[in-house]
Amino acid sequence: MTQDELKALVGQAALAYVQPGSIVGVGTGSTVNCFIDALAGIKDRIVGAVSSSERSSERLRAHGIAVLDSNAVDSIPVYVDGADEIDHHGFMIKGGGAALTREKIVADIAKSFICIADESKLVDTLGRFPVPVEVIPMAAAQIARRLRALGGDARLRVGVVTDNGCSILDVHGMALIDPMAMEREINQWPGVVSVGIFARHRAGVCLLGTAQGVKTLTF
Ligand code: 5RP
Repeated sequence: MTQDELKALVGQAALAYVQPGSIVGVGTGSTVNCFIDALAGIKDRIVGAVSSSERSSERLRAHGIAVLDSNAVDSIPVYVDGADEIDHHGFMIKGGGAALTREKIVADIAKSFICIADESKLVDTLGRFPVPVEVIPMAAAQIARRLRALGGDARLRVGVVTDNGCSILDVHGMALIDPMAMEREINQWPGVVSVGIFARHRAGVCLLGTAQGVKTLTF
């Protein structure tokens, strides 16, 4: 199976977690695009979606799925999103698509996080994928210095402005031995909007697309 076929497979499999009559939390990325396309097939059975990016909102609306304001929603049973890396504890690196902050916000509102990914994303230790950090532009150089002091090589993602009007630093070579501690540390620096380490907001379930079909990992 190709990577695209694996993404389509897990996008479809995630429908099993969507509760009838509910509001669905929707992530961002090529795997989530497959989920959105699958969701269109059951759109009459859901109230609508809370989306984590302008791109996902556009795709949802194009399918006739209502996109709700996150501030108008008290709780969401399920948030479905992809990952750049996921480990065996459900900890993830996210933000390859620059949507990490809104992804974390929707994940925070949701009761459970269902990660959908092809098997290339499963790793023993997080950190081969550069860790994205969304920053307020005037703080970028200072945050890059702080990241360097932690052993990371922070590079500005040139030409990218997030949906929140901010910049992204991609941090190469970070050893994520303790993702929870690293997330907490980076989050508190002035100018950091959010860090793409999802440890507090880890996945509860991962639907992993493999050559043998969808494997369900629970954490
Ligand atoms: C976007 C993300 C995505 O979930 C992540 O980049 C995975 O994307 P894809 O499904 O295209 O591989 O965090 O900010």
